Amino acid sequence: MRREFCAFYTESDPILTYMVKRLDVQDGDLILEPCAGDGVFIEKIFEVHKTENLEIEAMDLNIETVKKLESKFNSQSVEVKHADTLLNLSLDLFANSGGKYSKIIGNPPYGAWQDYQKRDVLKKKYGGYVKETYALFLRRCLDLLRDGGKLVFIVPDTFLALRLHKALRKTLLEDTIIDEILLIPSKFFPGVNFGYSNLCVISFKKGRNNKNNQFKIVSVNGTINNLYPVADGDYSVAKNVETLSQEKILSSVDYSFLLGGNTKIRKLINEANTRLGDIADCVTGFYSGDNKTYIVAKDNSVKGSKGYKVANASLVETDFLKQKKLLGGLSNGKKYIPILKGGNGRFNKSSDWFIQWDTKTIATYKASKTARFQNSQYYFEDGIGATMIKSSKIHAFLLENRLFDQSIVGVFPKYKNHLTYLLAFLNSDTCSRIIHVINHTANNSANYLKKLPVILDQTAIEKINGIMADLKKEKINSEQALVKINPLFEELYNL
Ligand SMILES: C[S@@+](CC[C@H](N)C(=O)[O-])C[C@H]1O[C@@H](n2cnc3c(N)ncnc32)[C@H](O)[C@@H]1O
Repeated sequence: MRREFCAFYTESDPILTYMVKRLDVQDGDLILEPCAGDGVFIEKIFEVHKTENLEIEAMDLNIETVKKLESKFNSQSVEVKHADTLLNLSLDLFANSGGKYSKIIGNPPYGAWQDYQKRDVLKKKYGGYVKETYALFLRRCLDLLRDGGKLVFIVPDTFLALRLHKALRKTLLEDTIIDEILLIPSKFFPGVNFGYSNLCVISFKKGRNNKNNQFKIVSVNGTINNLYPVADGDYSVAKNVETLSQEKILSSVDYSFLLGGNTKIRKLINEANTRLGDIADCVTGFYSGDNKTYIVAKDNSVKGSKGYKVANASLVETDFLKQKKLLGGLSNGKKYIPILKGGNGRFNKSSDWFIQWDTKTIATYKASKTARFQNSQYYFEDGIGATMIKSSKIHAFLLENRLFDQSIVGVFPKYKNHLTYLLAFLNSDTCSRIIHVINHTANNSANYLKKLPVILDQTAIEKINGIMADLKKEKINSEQALVKINPLFEELYNL
């Protein structure tokens, strides 16, 4: 039931208190709870606003939930409706005629499971990406709001940065006046822990008069009770408070909110002369479709090799670059070639894994629905591999003409003389700091790496290349190289 309706309820009083405060309920309001669940927001509204004259509509898709809501609120001022908020035709009418409600509050379903038929209907109606249902609720409810009406939602924070939510960000920045964005760890939310993202509460007013609007992004962690003073406008307990200009975000790269950055980092990202994508091709690698079948480990000591077979050394082709038509597979009786997978490794990475690469298997990969023979023009090229380790630091290493898998972003400089400098930059703390602002979620896909600002300063390049030459000659090890490289990039970027 939880998976189908995505029913994680907001049972947290500090969150409810904060959200109802930001809704700024007034006498005469017509309020919508578009995915009402237990009706906790309605209860909180009645608790705080005992005297105001309010009209509330509570909607839910789940008939059992609707029945419970009906018995809970059998008063005149709450109308409970069994409806699909995203598809309901009466709501379409209101959405297409300038909205209906003066206030909307909710905790929309985050990744609610949709059957394929419904996905198709949603795609037709909302376009593109419909898996993140919360984003559809945001768009739908913005349309259902009257001009000047207010909306307060608790949702994952991924829409603030991810590329696939670019269009939603544009709509929000153009058609609303953002009041506040509160960022909280998902552990604040009882019963839910989204490994991949944190939560945010967004509050906005519908309207296009937003040219001069400034709003706060407030991060709160520590204890959830910190939300009580924040609800009352006391931000002294917040971990961080930033005031941002809505117009500036609208003019930033991909309309990204660039969370966690200071003014300097934002400026650098938005106004860079050169970005990694300008001077290097950034692409994701190969996927076999079934690694346990096609990939083998060098030996049992390889990290993460449990459940994988060990390579038979006599079947591994170590001289694979000499093979003709390597992209079509080995035709000399050998079966395996090295492949690089994500995980630890800086500057250099040993060949710990091998993949089946005979002509017959290549044909299987190409015919398979799950395998990805993508960006094959970059296989066996000289470049850099980059992976994100434990969502904190980028680890970058030389590919040395080996195949790389889809957990790695391959970075192929257009000019070979940028190779070692970029390898050093990608491993620097400065680079990791910037990538976290470009995308604060734990994901460094090619699209985000492309946006990294690169400073091509000749003196710095020479110094860095000197250190990298010492590393290559093994005069210093990786740790020592990092100790030398980090201050140089810090000075150069001056963040
Ligand atoms: C995440 S829960 C939130 C419930 C409540 N707002 C709260 O915070 O306690 C989402 C609710 O949305 C309902 N729901 C899911 N998809 C819906 C849809 N398309 N239209 C209306 N309600 C929906 C579920 O049945 C569930 O009760």
